[in-house]
Amino acid sequence: MEITKYPTHLAIIMDGNGRWAKKQGLLRAFGHEKGVQSVRQVVEYCVQHNIPYLTLYAFSTENWNRPALEVKALMDLLIKFLKKEADALHKNGVKLNVIGNLDKFPPKAKETLLATIDKLKHNTTTTLTLALSYGSREELATAIKHITTDIQAGNLTPEAITEATIQKYLYTHNLPDVDLLIRTSGEYRISNFLLWQIAYAELYFTDVLWPEFTKEHLQAAILNYQNRERRFGKTSEQLK
Ligand code: IPE
Ligand code: IPE
Ligand code: MG
Repeated sequence: MEITKYPTHLAIIMDGNGRWAKKQGLLRAFGHEKGVQSVRQVVEYCVQHNIPYLTLYAFSTENWNRPALEVKALMDLLIKFLKKEADALHKNGVKLNVIGNLDKFPPKAKETLLATIDKLKHNTTTTLTLALSYGSREELATAIKHITTDIQAGNLTPEAITEATIQKYLYTHNLPDVDLLIRTSGEYRISNFLLWQIAYAELYFTDVLWPEFTKEHLQAAILNYQNRERRFGKTSEQLK
């Protein structure tokens, strides 16, 4: 086993902002704001260690059910983040990508997002994918809808459908499978994130709340990952 191997695709469920804020006697929105610092740290880490794909779960399809005020705070924060960080991301050669259903997004947030994606489109270090209004089940339903449309149009036959075909219809069509999935805040669940894409991912859970998550915490997760044996169904001996 190659001990120094970094994940090609790192995905993170950034959880615990609300609990962090509560612990400080602050409103939940402050937790989200503080969480931006952690985003900065993990992006920098990926750039420094040549991790080509970083995907962050920032807002789920289910998060639309939160109080309107919190949803608005998150949308405003996204706009602020994109405007404030665009230059730093650009300097670091970071490309921006988004997965999720943006049709539900407030126009201003969508515009800012698309403009930032455009600004960073030629960058080649790390691809930062933000999962926004993202739900894995919604992604799969959308994929099936498009597959059916293509079959009806005569562009695809049912017999020709393979795993690779399905992959092609997902929001993540241009991303490789996830190698390492981290969830913060001591919750042991996936919450509708990348169900197809994590089929063979290594999972890492930490009690650290997202606003307190630093490069050192990420380093610890990577080290743990590097000491695992990924067998993909084979025996340990076969890998030698
Ligand atoms: C994660 O933190 C951020 C989002 C889901 C947008 P939470 O807001 O879920 O924080 P907790 O889980 O309530 O502490
Ligand atoms: C998952 O966190 C979504 C994001 C991190 C954006 P939640 O805090 O919404 O997940 P549940 O509802 O506790 O499972
Ligand atoms: Mg949460």
